[in-house]
Amino acid sequence: MENVGVVHYGFTPTQLSARAAYLLRGNDLGTMTSAAPKLYPHMWSWDAAFVSVGLAPLSVERAVMELDTLLSAQWSNGMIPHIVFANGRDGYFPGPARWECSKLAFNAPRSPDTSGITQPPVHAIAVQRILDHAGRRGRTTRAMANEFLDRRWGDLMRWHRWLAHARDPKGRGRITIYHGWESGMDNSPRWDEAYANVKPGADLPPYRRADLDVVGDASMRPTDLEYDRYIWLVEQMKRAHYDDAVLPDVMDFAVEDVFVSAIFAVACEVLATIGEDHSKPRSDVRELRTWGERFRAGVVATTLERSGAARDFDLKSDKWITTETIACFAPLLCGGLPRERERALVRLFEGTRFCGHPDLRYAVPPSTSPISADFRAREYWRGPVWPVMTWLFSWAFARRGWPERSSRLREEGLRQAADGAFAEYYEPFTGEPLGSMQQSWTAASVLDWLD
Ligand code: SER
Repeated sequence: MENVGVVHYGFTPTQLSARAAYLLRGNDLGTMTSAAPKLYPHMWSWDAAFVSVGLAPLSVERAVMELDTLLSAQWSNGMIPHIVFANGRDGYFPGPARWECSKLAFNAPRSPDTSGITQPPVHAIAVQRILDHAGRRGRTTRAMANEFLDRRWGDLMRWHRWLAHARDPKGRGRITIYHGWESGMDNSPRWDEAYANVKPGADLPPYRRADLDVVGDASMRPTDLEYDRYIWLVEQMKRAHYDDAVLPDVMDFAVEDVFVSAIFAVACEVLATIGEDHSKPRSDVRELRTWGERFRAGVVATTLERSGAARDFDLKSDKWITTETIACFAPLLCGGLPRERERALVRLFEGTRFCGHPDLRYAVPPSTSPISADFRAREYWRGPVWPVMTWLFSWAFARRGWPERSSRLREEGLRQAADGAFAEYYEPFTGEPLGSMQQSWTAASVLDWLD
């Protein structure tokens, strides 16, 4: 009898988790884990959180160290920057010399070097995982994790407060981003219209992309025009000295990101529960719950009546952005939809426009629907499957009380990961690994799934 399992399961679960642990050890730079050895040789903010989730079953101490390193680079306004640069590591553009944060930004630390933008606030999930794992270990580990929480609670509150205030000054319940990189989904079709209004000036200082030195096939990465826009936005921020109060007036790109907002809503709830369980100030817990509710309502307010699909909002053109991307499912992360609308959205997620598309190699959500005119099977966030997104939805579904949906994603995600490449993203139909290999957060997802 043909054993299909062997074809898909290149590696057994035991082999796979050993390889994932080995990968994280290989990407370990001492006190931080590079997001990927070549393409992303530094620490990325949301990568670091997912990496901590994967490290926690291996070593709670090392997982804590990862978050400690990230939080040591927090800006004085509360922002967690999207990159913490590893000392003396080259090969990534834009590096510290281009961002110039310590020179230009009043709020940036003098050291370490960081970028001047932020990334999705998934960190509370990592803190929760760390505390859960510590709870199953001995007294010393538990004490260390509790000490970490005590030491960093104020920083986590400052981070959430900055997002709730500086990035939602009008209290609409949605986080504004000023750069597509802040969404983590750099070239998603979600941002096409907003980027069309970003017109790089003739005074854009010259630069050379470094990513294509690593990923030889340019069709897997954003285009040169997209890069010009990315770098132009960095230039605009520099000219504004990365000042929160000035950005709304000077940036060519300003959108309310519904996916980041949903992550924030759920992160506030997770942190509030941690706060309650660990006797943190009641006023902090209350504030977190208030933000959680405000952002959940903000996400729900973006959804289409019939499908429940969520939308981003372009603040520059005052228009809703409707696309068939994974961001449609933001409300499934944080909840809050009326029952019928939520059912419709689950059907969309599991149906032929996404996970249930008949030609998909694995039943996991592609970054853009294969049915959409914007779909590109190999191009970064325009179509490929990102294992870490599969992990995020499987985590969220378990939390929402949907264990079967959660396990289905986990099983399919593991079938995909069994090739052992730990790729950044995958071609949805063929399962070909794309982008950078040995991506830390892919290994971390697998470690958590197999724990
Ligand atoms: N993801 C971006 C890059 O590709 C930066 O965050 O470089």
